[in-house]
Amino acid sequence: MTQTITILGSTGSIGTSTLDVVARHPDRYRVHALTAHTRVAELADQCRRHRPARAVVGSADAALALRRLLDASPDTRAIEIDHGPAALCEVAREGEIVMAAIVGAVGMPAALAAARAGRRVLLANKEALVMAGALFIDAVRTGGATLLPIDSEHNAIFQCLPLADGKVAADRRVSRILLTASGGPFRTRAVERMHDVTPDEACAHPNWAMGRKISVDSATMMNKGLEVIEARWLFDLGPERIEVVIHPQSVIHSMVEYVDGSVLAQMGNPDMRTPIAHALAYPERIASGVRPLDLAAIARLDFEKPDLERFPCLGLAYDALHRGDSAPAILNAANEIAVAAFLEGRIGFTAIADVVARVLDEVAVTTPHHLEDVLAIDQSARRSAHAALDETTAGAAR
Ligand SMILES: NC(=O)c1ccc[n+]([C@@H]2O[C@H](COP(=O)([O-])OP(=O)(O)OC[C@H]3O[C@@H](n4cnc5c(N)ncnc54)[C@H](OP(=O)(O)O)[C@@H]3O)[C@@H](O)[C@H]2O)c1
Repeated sequence: MTQTITILGSTGSIGTSTLDVVARHPDRYRVHALTAHTRVAELADQCRRHRPARAVVGSADAALALRRLLDASPDTRAIEIDHGPAALCEVAREGEIVMAAIVGAVGMPAALAAARAGRRVLLANKEALVMAGALFIDAVRTGGATLLPIDSEHNAIFQCLPLADGKVAADRRVSRILLTASGGPFRTRAVERMHDVTPDEACAHPNWAMGRKISVDSATMMNKGLEVIEARWLFDLGPERIEVVIHPQSVIHSMVEYVDGSVLAQMGNPDMRTPIAHALAYPERIASGVRPLDLAAIARLDFEKPDLERFPCLGLAYDALHRGDSAPAILNAANEIAVAAFLEGRIGFTAIADVVARVLDEVAVTTPHHLEDVLAIDQSARRSAHAALDETTAGAAR
């Protein structure tokens, strides 16, 4: 039986890897909807190859441009095209499987819509859990959705956890989870040279090919901080049971430590098609196209403690998790604004952590009860981050 799939953010790094895996199994999966924001030519190309029923883009102009491209061929003329956030939520409710792979806070409402509609949700958009963890997990439960982690670390933990009543659970058998981190491109760069890092240097990850925003987050280790928060919600664990360990080879994707001292690790080449294939087929296994692991060629695996002086963003994320309520949403919003400013060349690399720390100090932490509360918190943190940026850039100009 084929299952229909909606891919939110199909033109991104996770989106294209998902289409690669899906195309290997035409007997199992049929693409229902694809979505992009501005990359219309790439989306048109994907539509020609995968023939979805629907496509969604970010604006009316982008929809018009896509219509022109798809009308050029009789095979793609029937594809329904829409634009905007409401259409994203609509297609998120429709696929039997939904890959939530839009980058950033903007991806959260559609991921939540898929959870509420009881879909099999493949969650790459970690921001959904960082911003609205309690609401999201509640939506999964009440909607009857199946939530499967795509982040390679969380997918690894999911694979190493024990079963309780047929479901994975970090119950009393588990003492803690160990999230591995590559340490990114600046693990060994002198701390005094961190301020002159360029956007291209920050995006040149040693092991993973990813979108630019998550690449910068990996370089600051904010990505690992967001993953700690994501793990708290996915596995219902307190921060004291979530530890980060640097592992530069990115071969062990994370580990689970049991109370008897056993540590189970999931290993593989650093290629997102493995967690994607795992989550698509779970509990079965399907081929992903990932080349086999050659341990003799890798020869050694190294581990070290993260250096919080070099990577203050990781400490800020733990602080936000300890504070709870809206603090992680504030952290996420401030980081998105600061990373965008860094990528535009407006602030230096080390100023990212400064902006986030300042916004976390300034914006009051409250308890969000509804999606609208989360969106309001997000907006307020963004305003505070813009003010912090204006002061940072004015200070640098003086
Ligand atoms: N890349 C990885 O290896 C990896 C690993 C683990 C987790 N993740 C998570 O997966 C998510 C996606 O990451 P990525 O690296 O695939 O990102 P990416 O390559 O930047 O792709 C992002 C996707 O989101 C779309 N998008 C951007 N802004 C949007 C908006 N305002 N409205 C609707 N769609 C929008 C983009 O469309 P356009 O192409 O038209 O701009 C693109 O399809 C992130 O949450 C990231 O943290 C990624």
